[in-house]
Amino acid sequence: MFAALLLAATSVSAGAIGCGGHHIGARNPGMGNPHYRREYNPDSLDVTAQCTAYNYPPVAAIVKDFPTIWTPATILPTDTAASALFAEFNSTVAPKVANVQVKVGTQGDFSGYQYDNADDPDCWWTKTRCTVPKDNTIAADISRLPEPNTWGFGFDDGPNCSHNALYNFMAENNQKATMFFIGSNVLNWPLQAIRAKTDGHELCIHTWSHSAMTTLTNEAAFAELYYTRQAIKAVTGVTPKCWRPPYGDVDNRIRAIAGFLNLTNVLWSDDTFDWQEGTNNVTAETVVGNYQKVFDKAKAGEYDTYGAIVLNHEINNKTMQHMIDQYPTIKENFKYIVPIASGMNWTTPYVEANETYPNFEQYISGQREGSVVPSGSGNSPGSTLTGSAAAGASSTAAGKPSAGTRNSAAGILVVAGVAAAMLL
Ligand SMILES: *[C@@H]1O[C@H](CO)[C@@H](O)[C@H](O)[C@H]1NC(C)=O
Ligand SMILES: *[C@@H]1O[C@H](CO)[C@@H](O)[C@H](O)[C@H]1NC(C)=O
Ligand SMILES: *[C@@H]1O[C@H](CO)[C@@H](O)[C@H](O)[C@H]1NC(C)=O
Ligand SMILES: *[C@@H]1O[C@H](CO)[C@@H](O)[C@H](O)[C@H]1NC(C)=O
Ligand SMILES: *[C@@H]1O[C@H](CO)[C@@H](O)[C@H](O)[C@H]1NC(C)=O
Ligand SMILES: *[C@@H]1O[C@H](CO)[C@@H](O)[C@H](O)[C@H]1NC(C)=O
Ligand SMILES: *[C@@H]1O[C@H](CO)[C@@H](O)[C@H](O)[C@H]1NC(C)=O
Ligand SMILES: [Zn+2]
Repeated sequence: MFAALLLAATSVSAGAIGCGGHHIGARNPGMGNPHYRREYNPDSLDVTAQCTAYNYPPVAAIVKDFPTIWTPATILPTDTAASALFAEFNSTVAPKVANVQVKVGTQGDFSGYQYDNADDPDCWWTKTRCTVPKDNTIAADISRLPEPNTWGFGFDDGPNCSHNALYNFMAENNQKATMFFIGSNVLNWPLQAIRAKTDGHELCIHTWSHSAMTTLTNEAAFAELYYTRQAIKAVTGVTPKCWRPPYGDVDNRIRAIAGFLNLTNVLWSDDTFDWQEGTNNVTAETVVGNYQKVFDKAKAGEYDTYGAIVLNHEINNKTMQHMIDQYPTIKENFKYIVPIASGMNWTTPYVEANETYPNFEQYISGQREGSVVPSGSGNSPGSTLTGSAAAGASSTAAGKPSAGTRNSAAGILVVAGVAAAMLL
């Protein structure tokens, strides 16, 4: 299916640190010999073979339009479209969040930064786990699902070059997930990203270089999201409307930038800390114990009124294998395991409204592929709920937290529902 591919001449620079401090990015050790050819084999389980760099001509033709892979993004001076869009943000929305300071810290560690946690003026998740801004014109984050006894299933930091064992497992189990992809990885490993889309997983944005977003200028934060959005569109054909901040590091300024780009922020309610294995003597048993804590909460009835969104990673054999090993136990403890779009009834999760996704009812009754809806009639992240979904949201207290009407001029949300308060 895939023709012989020439190797991309993109280079990879310094590594970045993952969601909680793990090194990622250094893992794509340069694209190697530009004359190398190989077949891309989606069935290969050989890690070295899967991670051997290749050239994908459609990406080789456009890398010049993107920031350097694995370096913090900035708007390219030649990119008039991005500059114009940022200028629009700068003149319409930026003044509203001008009082939010750029934070100082590294890789999600802000221990030395002075901040008024008690007042939490910026709704800064990193310090206070705030997900609902006091200013209700800024959209709340999503950190749980409205459906009880449900596991919101997703992976951060992909695509990993050698992810076939995980993706095969999901295919065998007819299980879809939400993939929070790093733009640099998408351009490094485009065929792996395409596999995720072809396999029916939901695609969301996880920034260009995995930087702590609150430490970036408006322009740099905009560029991290903008170019990842462009990369996913160029490679897979769809434009995501959801994102997740590395380390969960988000405040109202970053929410406003993401909101301007029509991105709904998906955080998490539970964390497996799977990436920690092997760091600071963290063992496999500790990670298994972290999963067990979520199962214990399920047994104790914690998820009888809402669903968990659980943080896992596509970064290495251990994180992916833990998920495979735990999957039967997740099934025992949760009634449903669903990607975020289905958990939220986002039947049109992308800007391309002809791309659809199964809603919750469809997903749990076995329909795992999108069905056709008249363009524009589906629910999309950040949109006003309609139809049965709206009925669901008003009849259950745990409705869609980001339900709102978009002010497209300002790109910010006017929250219409009362549901947001549920996340406090
Ligand atoms: C995933 O990425 C890591 C880091 O680059 C790499 O070492 C590993 O081989 C990849 N795949 C698996 C299955 O671990
Ligand atoms: C952003 O707006 C400020 C004024 O609020 C202006 O000084 C600055 O030049 C603008 N930057 C861009 C890139 O438009
Ligand atoms: C956000 O969505 C609105 C409504 O569809 C659209 O008009 C606007 O262009 C979008 N903004 C961006 C930056 O994509
Ligand atoms: C890991 O364990 C070894 C042996 O117990 C200890 O010497 C070392 O300090 C530990 N390292 C960390 C980072 O905790
Ligand atoms: C992890 O490595 C083992 C041993 O090579 C292999 O059997 C397994 O399939 C790998 N798991 C994943 C998810 O790559
Ligand atoms: C879906 O819509 C996009 C534009 O949003 C268009 O480019 C694409 O061709 C459409 N796909 C189909 C199968 O109609
Ligand atoms: C999704 O739709 C179902 C009905 O099909 C409803 O029960 C549920 O509340 C809806 N969820 C959301 C988040 O709107
Ligand atoms: Zn991450």
